[in-house]
Amino acid sequence: MEIIIKASLAEAQREAAEIIARQLRRKAASVLGLATGSTPIGVYAILTEMHKEGLDFSKVKTFNLDEYVGLSDDHPQSYRQFMQQHLFSRVNVAPGHIHFPDGRAEDIPAHCLEYEAAIRSAGGIDLQLLGIGSDGHIGFNEPSSSLASRTRIKTLTPRTVKDNARFFGTADKVPHHVITMGVGTIMDARACLLLATGESKAEAVVGMAEGPITANLPASVLQMHPDCKLVVDEAAATRLRRADYYRWVYENKPDWQRR
Ligand code: GLP
Repeated sequence: MEIIIKASLAEAQREAAEIIARQLRRKAASVLGLATGSTPIGVYAILTEMHKEGLDFSKVKTFNLDEYVGLSDDHPQSYRQFMQQHLFSRVNVAPGHIHFPDGRAEDIPAHCLEYEAAIRSAGGIDLQLLGIGSDGHIGFNEPSSSLASRTRIKTLTPRTVKDNARFFGTADKVPHHVITMGVGTIMDARACLLLATGESKAEAVVGMAEGPITANLPASVLQMHPDCKLVVDEAAATRLRRADYYRWVYENKPDWQRR
């Protein structure tokens, strides 16, 4: 795992946006896995600016990590609306190239299989953007999720319900069930990029990067991923024991590796 510590939130967001932009410049028809939550909002804003300067999304295909069960596509707190607001309405991604788990599917297990099949038929995910929950979840793979899991329905922990209540106004409005790509689905992406910012993520970050690989902290499985970048700001890096080493590696990276 490459661990990149940036001095500020803005610099961490810029780094993540540049990694995504480099992927699109390398392969215009990239398949991107996308994430929601407050963390990527700044990244999407920078990608929007880059798009105004020519970054092309017309051939990009997208697969979002997760969606709440029971919310319609046009529900203001649905992740589809979130992505529409923060990215899709602002760049030239083709509507037919956008994919989400359908939280209103009648047959959820069958729908999850179809979602996996759609990812495969698009050629697999080239770059998966991730955030991390304060309990170490990725997508909505809560602690105890199988590290081999595929897209499926999950029940949120009370902690995640509480963390996400700010989007809904009150905790009792947060759906308890979600559809999420599995940990195994995420691990199949050719590259992963996890962005974590702020002090509230410091414990999850040290667990994922330096703790044991465990289903109790699903993001820790990314230690097994052959091409995973973790981008953090100083606030999220406070508990990393080898922070100085990660900084040293990054500062001394050969130019040919800065791709
Ligand atoms: C939700 C999303 C995750 C996201 C997490 C953290 O649980 N399903 O993909 O990483 O929230 O969100 P935030 O960035 O708001 O802290």
